[in-house]
Amino acid sequence: MELKQTELKEIKLTELDVAGFIDRQVEQIRQAAGDGLAVNALSGGVDSAVVTLLGHRALGDRQKTYFIENGLMRQDEPEQVAKVFEDLGVKVEIVDAKDQFFGALAGVTDPEQKRDKGITQVFYKDVFGKLVKDCGAKVLLQGTNYTDVEETVAGIKRQHNILAQLGIDTEQAYGYKVLEPIIELRKPAVRLVGKELGLPEETFSRPPFPGPALATRVIGEVTPQRVETVRSATAIVEAELSDSGAFQYLAILHEDKVTGLRDGKRDFGNQIEVRCWDSTDAVTAEPTELPFTVLRKIAERITSEVPGVVSVTYNIASKPPSCIEAV
Ligand code: XMP
Repeated sequence: MELKQTELKEIKLTELDVAGFIDRQVEQIRQAAGDGLAVNALSGGVDSAVVTLLGHRALGDRQKTYFIENGLMRQDEPEQVAKVFEDLGVKVEIVDAKDQFFGALAGVTDPEQKRDKGITQVFYKDVFGKLVKDCGAKVLLQGTNYTDVEETVAGIKRQHNILAQLGIDTEQAYGYKVLEPIIELRKPAVRLVGKELGLPEETFSRPPFPGPALATRVIGEVTPQRVETVRSATAIVEAELSDSGAFQYLAILHEDKVTGLRDGKRDFGNQIEVRCWDSTDAVTAEPTELPFTVLRKIAERITSEVPGVVSVTYNIASKPPSCIEAV
């Protein structure tokens, strides 16, 4: 991975003037769009939610917001996210791109290839290349934050939304400019900006969810069926841990199968790994010391409610050397 030097500087939480920051970004978006349109992708996470509202404040209806249904999102997520933003006066168009993503992910098992060929290329080139061209927009707004850049530049993993720092000229590669209004902020600062912009609390304090979505939680090939397994397990983990106060909690589908036993017969089935993290900025993280009864209940629910799963484990390693996601 070849990296361009970046002169980017973080705005620390203690230095952040929230109202001044918003005014500055709104002005920059207006300048970049001129009298034309801007587009943005909303996933429902705090980063893209903040960028959506900054764009809406700057451009009103000249900002086109799309939710890309890549087949990798959580249960009912597209409709729920669109509803939250419609209540805020922002129209969200859901674009069905499931076949494009699963087509590109077929047969890919290497984590960095999944992120690059499977997610980044399809997202920026195929899906947004066409959307931007069709509506004649000048610029794509996206919610890259400071930690995304830092991890990619450090060579830890290629975050799906890092482009300029990898030497990618988006105008040449995809046909549009990319503007990144929150690139100087880490997550806690982004949450403050979201609160000030009027996001509902469940959105500005939402646990992080990665851009490549459940593809980062499937070890091995990402198929519709394997995503369905991890999606069902994720719903259970989120329901059981939403009151835990943890930074992030998730389920991972392993590639290896293990021998289990069901109804007195051998059942060679899947393994789900549960992770729950205490962290403030995702740079370092510790596994949450969950009560054993909570872990047992999660295991009981996953093995009885998610077809084909016979084993559930809990990650007890720290980041580093572990990472928050598996891929
Ligand atoms: P890792 O797995 O690197 O994750 O410890 C750190 C934080 O970043 C999130 N994450 C991503 N977010 N695009 C994103 O928008 C990505 O490609 C991506 N990969 C990881 C992860 O959920 C965690 O909060």
